Amino acid sequence: MSYPFSRSDDAYVDLSSQDAFNEGAPFKTFDRLRAEDPMHWTEFDGPDRGFWSVTRHADLLDLNRQADLLSSARGIRMEDQTEEEYEARKTFQETDAPQHRAFRALVSKAFSKSTVAQYEDRIREIVTELLDEAFDAREFDAVDKIARRLPMQMLAQIIGIPDDDAAWLVEKGDALISNADPDYTDFVIDKVDTDEYRMLPFRSPAAVELFDYANDLLKRMEAGEQIGVLNTVLEPTSHGTSMSHDEFRNFFCLLVAAGNDTTRYSIAATIHSLANCEYLLPALQNGAHSGWEAMADEMIRWASPTSHFRRTATRDFEYHGKQVAAGDKVVLWFLSGNRDGEAIEDPYKIRLDRPRNPHLSFGQGGPHICLGMWLAKLEVRIVLEEMARRLAKIEQTAEHSYLRSNFIHGIKKLPIRVTPR
Ligand code: HEM
Repeated sequence: MSYPFSRSDDAYVDLSSQDAFNEGAPFKTFDRLRAEDPMHWTEFDGPDRGFWSVTRHADLLDLNRQADLLSSARGIRMEDQTEEEYEARKTFQETDAPQHRAFRALVSKAFSKSTVAQYEDRIREIVTELLDEAFDAREFDAVDKIARRLPMQMLAQIIGIPDDDAAWLVEKGDALISNADPDYTDFVIDKVDTDEYRMLPFRSPAAVELFDYANDLLKRMEAGEQIGVLNTVLEPTSHGTSMSHDEFRNFFCLLVAAGNDTTRYSIAATIHSLANCEYLLPALQNGAHSGWEAMADEMIRWASPTSHFRRTATRDFEYHGKQVAAGDKVVLWFLSGNRDGEAIEDPYKIRLDRPRNPHLSFGQGGPHICLGMWLAKLEVRIVLEEMARRLAKIEQTAEHSYLRSNFIHGIKKLPIRVTPR
């Protein structure tokens, strides 16, 4: 039997609303759209233009591959941006080939599977320290004590910044990417006027502090210091262009945001599953599954931490009988693809036997496939392994709560009690 990961029961939510995911992902709405209206138009509740929603797995793969038809270079979130805002805020994620490919080549080695594999021991050490502390307390918020801490501690090491700065970076990263949730920012994007911050990443004033931090890193690197993988980012690409200081600051914000909360919500979903899916822990402990890596992938499919990314049509085209015009925003709901029964058997069940898992959590198929994918998978695998090794029992002690965001999907508070083996 499946177990509920979402409390949302509404088949008709407004996908433009940040509240749409308040009770977890509106899976019922996505089920309906995949069945009835796979290229669906949503009017925006607010001044922004509406957008198309792509919800079927096959269509997501098809359209994500066609980067010449659907560009990332006009913004990747639902909001409209002026040319000026777009230029001020863009990172390499908001570029298309050939510029995107040239820049990505500079950073991809630092996050490749083989490079990341070298961090396994360090990740295990951090997980062990976090679990030691949490398990001593027996009852704790699993997001606060485990899921929120590991990703930034590890990323800080990779990018070469001190461990002591990790907690501050987590706080600022949350203010950026969780800009719709009053628990993380006073500048809630759809509730207060953020116009004066429109030139900053995520329209967030927290970016000013992150820019200062990035400026300091820039100065040190220009003085000849080697800082983790960051120096490679400033090298000229194969096209002979280099990242400007503005682009570096935005890239730093992207890393702090992207490397922070997506892995966190995968770990939170993993621990939530261990506490609520009765067959998961025994199967992990008995070896009745298709391998730890496959289980980490299954947990990341289940979690689907980035619900969508947006593209912009570069020319008119027809899809499922709908006329998409050049300039229209097209939203790729990877989260919906991950629950599409046409591509994924028993999508509402955590399966122990999915050696091949065609999930889309990392934006598979497209040129922007997640840079941190191998790192995220490794962290989730080690959390699974170490928790399974140490747990006799795990229970959820009170209701969990979800992040307020239609962009990032996850559990932000998860009270649990553990009994160690
Ligand atoms: C489970 C954890 C994660 C999930 C679910 C996730 C999800 C995604 C997705 C869906 C994309 C594609 C965006 C698009 O198609 O426009 C992406 C891109 C990206 N991710 Fe992740 N991510 C995760 C972890 C990380 C980590 C740990 C890092 C930091 C090292 C990271 C850095 C990036 C960057 C820099 C990009 C842009 C790549 C490009 O444009 O070429 N991600 N991520």
